[in-house]
Amino acid sequence: MTTMRSFVTVALVAASAVAAATSRICTLRPLGHGRDDTDQVEAAIARCGRFGKTIFKPGQYNITRKMTWDLVHSTVDLHGYLNFKPDVEYWLNPNNTYRVVFIQNQASWFVVTGHDFLIDAHNRGGINGNGQTWWSYYGNRSRSDGDGRPIALTLSHVNRGTVRNFRVESQPFWCNTVADSKNVVYDGMYCNATNQDPLYAGQNIVPNTDGICTYRSDKVTLLNWDITCGDDCLAIKGNSTNIHAKHLTCRGGNGIAVGSLGQYADQPDIVDNLVLEHVKMVRLDPKVQPNMKKGLYLKTWTGTVNGEPPTGGGGGGGYVSNVVAKDFHLDRLNLPVHVYQTNGGHSGDQPSKLQFSNMSFINWRGSVTANRLVDLECSAGAPCPNILFKNFDVSPPPGQAPSFVCMNVVNARGIPGPCNATGLP
Ligand SMILES: *[C@@H]1O[C@H](CO)[C@@H](O)[C@H](O)[C@H]1NC(C)=O
Ligand SMILES: *[C@@H]1O[C@H](CO)[C@@H](O)[C@H](O)[C@H]1NC(C)=O
Ligand SMILES: *[C@@H]1O[C@H](CO)[C@@H](O)[C@H](O)[C@H]1NC(C)=O
Ligand SMILES: *[C@@H]1O[C@H](CO)[C@@H](O)[C@H](O)[C@H]1NC(C)=O
Ligand SMILES: *[C@@H]1O[C@H](CO)[C@@H](O)[C@H](O)[C@H]1NC(C)=O
Ligand SMILES: *[C@@H]1O[C@H](CO)[C@@H](O)[C@H](O)[C@H]1NC(C)=O
Ligand SMILES: *[C@@H]1O[C@H](CO)[C@@H](O)[C@H](O)[C@H]1NC(C)=O
Repeated sequence: MTTMRSFVTVALVAASAVAAATSRICTLRPLGHGRDDTDQVEAAIARCGRFGKTIFKPGQYNITRKMTWDLVHSTVDLHGYLNFKPDVEYWLNPNNTYRVVFIQNQASWFVVTGHDFLIDAHNRGGINGNGQTWWSYYGNRSRSDGDGRPIALTLSHVNRGTVRNFRVESQPFWCNTVADSKNVVYDGMYCNATNQDPLYAGQNIVPNTDGICTYRSDKVTLLNWDITCGDDCLAIKGNSTNIHAKHLTCRGGNGIAVGSLGQYADQPDIVDNLVLEHVKMVRLDPKVQPNMKKGLYLKTWTGTVNGEPPTGGGGGGGYVSNVVAKDFHLDRLNLPVHVYQTNGGHSGDQPSKLQFSNMSFINWRGSVTANRLVDLECSAGAPCPNILFKNFDVSPPPGQAPSFVCMNVVNARGIPGPCNATGLP
């Protein structure tokens, strides 16, 4: 601790927006020379994370073990990167991560909790996930949900927290999760999982690098996101309510997901009041990232329990309602809108009872690689009412007629064909 003092300065200063009237300031610089920064980072947050301000000077902070920041009336100015050591076997030991995200028992190496805080990384800091080590490690190994690959940034039990202008370089697994939280704003987030190992050129070697998973959280605002990944740009999971996302760019991957829902038979999943607007989906060079699959897709497990979470499950109820997806621009993706309720299922399963209703798709433009534009396969156990399309002007490939598929959809409006009908097919 005596050595720490030369790197952490503590002073009394005037108020900032979220800090108290008189508060401490801690200032850190990376130790460098292959030394471990975890102690000095933890010490600074312990000293200034409550009613204070912590300033990280630029550079790479060597983080070698799991870390929690408990921030209360606090500002963190992160001008550098928390660089999580690229030691796959170490992090896969369950003792070395947290398991605070209930769904699929996912692991976290860095958890932020607390209330009334701002983390501002000024577009020049954030997290360095050293993902390439992970993606190459798993290049010839199988992966599964809940296997211990850590989420890069986890917000857990947060109230009134803001994360701003924050970069995550090469997330090994999910880039962000917000769970058991409310009144959270993310403004200016960057995540980039791009393989550079020539051994895997042209393959999606970066699955599960989702931009964010929202879970058991209310009033979450996602503004100005730029996500490059090999999976879901956003994954809106169970009990995500009042989620507003605006000005997103999704580069490669699967698109924006709602789900999978209904994995836990005893825990209904609710998604209510979801607004997605000004979304750009961009296909990348296929040698770098071959996938750009969907615009918005919504999925549930079937009504039958098939195995147990984290990898199996199903049978869960709940509903998804009041979804608005507007001002989408698509660049050569496979399928703009997809609903299906057969995730993880087998033929002969009970139909899901989780119902989708009140969904609007407004002002969609751009191009796709196949002629199917909309595929709504709702469950026979819970047909989808009130699905509206307005100014849905997506172009199929030249010379091909657009196709729309609707199963168990009640009263879809605004697109031609079998979808534009009242009542059940
Ligand atoms: C981080 O610290 C560990 C432990 O001191 C050291 O072995 C490792 O080389 C450091 N890494 C970097 C990038 O400095
Ligand atoms: C985790 O820690 C416990 C308690 O210290 C220990 O018994 C166990 O062997 C550790 N597990 C692994 C995989 O290292
Ligand atoms: C996996 O790939 C690495 C690097 O190419 C190689 O060294 C290793 O032997 C491979 N392992 C298996 C099980 O194929
Ligand atoms: C993502 O990272 C790759 C590899 O470093 C880089 O080529 C690409 O420009 C980055 N994407 C964005 C949007 O910054
Ligand atoms: C979602 O919220 C409902 C109602 O509060 C609750 O019954 C259910 O267990 C929650 N589901 C999950 C996955 O937390
Ligand atoms: C769907 O919208 C209708 C009409 O606005 C409303 O009455 C109904 O409560 C909504 N359904 C849900 C599940 O919110
Ligand atoms: C829906 O069907 C009705 C009745 O056939 C037709 O008048 C209307 O133009 C159709 N709307 C669209 C957007 O295709």
